[in-house]
Amino acid sequence: MERTFLAIKPDGVQRGLVGDIISRFETKGFTLVGLKLMKVSRELAEQHYGVHRERPFFAGLVEFITSAPVVAMVWEGDGVIASARKLIGATNPLTSDLGTIRGDYGVSIGRNIIHGSDAPETAQQEISLWFKEDELVSWQPTITPWIYE
Ligand code: RTP
Ligand code: MG
Repeated sequence: MERTFLAIKPDGVQRGLVGDIISRFETKGFTLVGLKLMKVSRELAEQHYGVHRERPFFAGLVEFITSAPVVAMVWEGDGVIASARKLIGATNPLTSDLGTIRGDYGVSIGRNIIHGSDAPETAQQEISLWFKEDELVSWQPTITPWIYE
């Protein structure tokens, strides 16, 4: 089964969207295997967004991600990496489809509520960057046969 890393950013936590966001992935049929509320260190933020280090928005992005608590999560399921990106919506919330998390709740690209890994390699890197192996729980929900054929 595939796994992806998702993080509800400080704006999503401050705006009280944690329950709604978790609910969207649960009701889709994905399985939560890791969850923690945390204050992100500058070091972790810079590592996580390292690919954007040279971009003009990098400093502001790191400032923002470290400014208030984040909810870090690992979700599991068939095709969860690409599907989670669809549920999240396009990077700029003004152009995200309605029905997506960013499309429903966001306005500004720098306040787009949630992060999701964009590919299998980044998912693996981000899961091991944010979670220790013993913080992840492998389990099979009893409803599995009602979600998977
Ligand atoms: P994320 O990594 O947070 O899930 O977002 P993403 O894949 O949709 O977008 P990405 O290109 O990876 O950009 C990372 C985050 O940087 C901020 N950003 N600001 N001001 C700008 O032009 C700009 N571009 C990107 C966004 O908060 C974006 O989520
Ligand atoms: Mg990204």
